[in-house]
Amino acid sequence: MSVHPDRLREGIHIVSLSEKDLPEIMEIESMSFTSPWSENLFRQELRNERVEVMGARFLNHLLGYVVLWHGFRETHIMNIAVHPHFRRRGIGSMLLEYAINRARMKSDVLLLEVRVSNVPAIQLYKRYGFLPIGLRRKYYSDNNEDALVMMKRL
Ligand SMILES: CC(C)(COP(=O)(O)OP(=O)(O)OC[C@H]1O[C@@H](n2cnc3c(N)ncnc32)[C@H](O)[C@@H]1OP(=O)(O)O)[C@@H](O)C(=O)NCCC(=O)NCCS
Repeated sequence: MSVHPDRLREGIHIVSLSEKDLPEIMEIESMSFTSPWSENLFRQELRNERVEVMGARFLNHLLGYVVLWHGFRETHIMNIAVHPHFRRRGIGSMLLEYAINRARMKSDVLLLEVRVSNVPAIQLYKRYGFLPIGLRRKYYSDNNEDALVMMKRL
């Protein structure tokens, strides 16, 4: 699919995802992470009433998604990914803007963890005003990498 970036952004809809979207979610997930979530974990989150799983759809194609957990006055970004062929075109930003606006309705803060080596994601979060607030040592068991905890006040 080849689309001009402006047309792509205009044509994207942020929609609620369900179990029927799992094959497309899993395709993006497996291309995006060294330790991807399992299909069962996504299924569990899709059934959790505190969790929102939102997707960026262009026509019939799922190009990315964000998973949010709403707690008491705090919202967490549990997962966010964009299809590798469609990165750097503003889709991650659209998903993050959705997350921020949604969290504002329910929470005082938006929190996330990110691998310290994940420069693209850290850059994206900083651009939207997230600040580093701590490190979780050896948080990722696949390579013992630290997690940077980032927070945005809403
Ligand atoms: C992080 C991710 C979701 C960003 O999605 P995206 O659609 O490419 O993001 P955008 O196009 O909206 O980028 C917005 C800004 O983020 C920053 N950014 C994004 N990718 C970057 C990269 N590879 N290097 C440096 N900065 C980057 C830039 O500031 C960019 O603005 P610019 O393109 O005008 O320079 C995407 O890279 C991804 O899916 N990564 C794999 C999954 C992942 O790591 N998720 C985060 C888990 S915590």
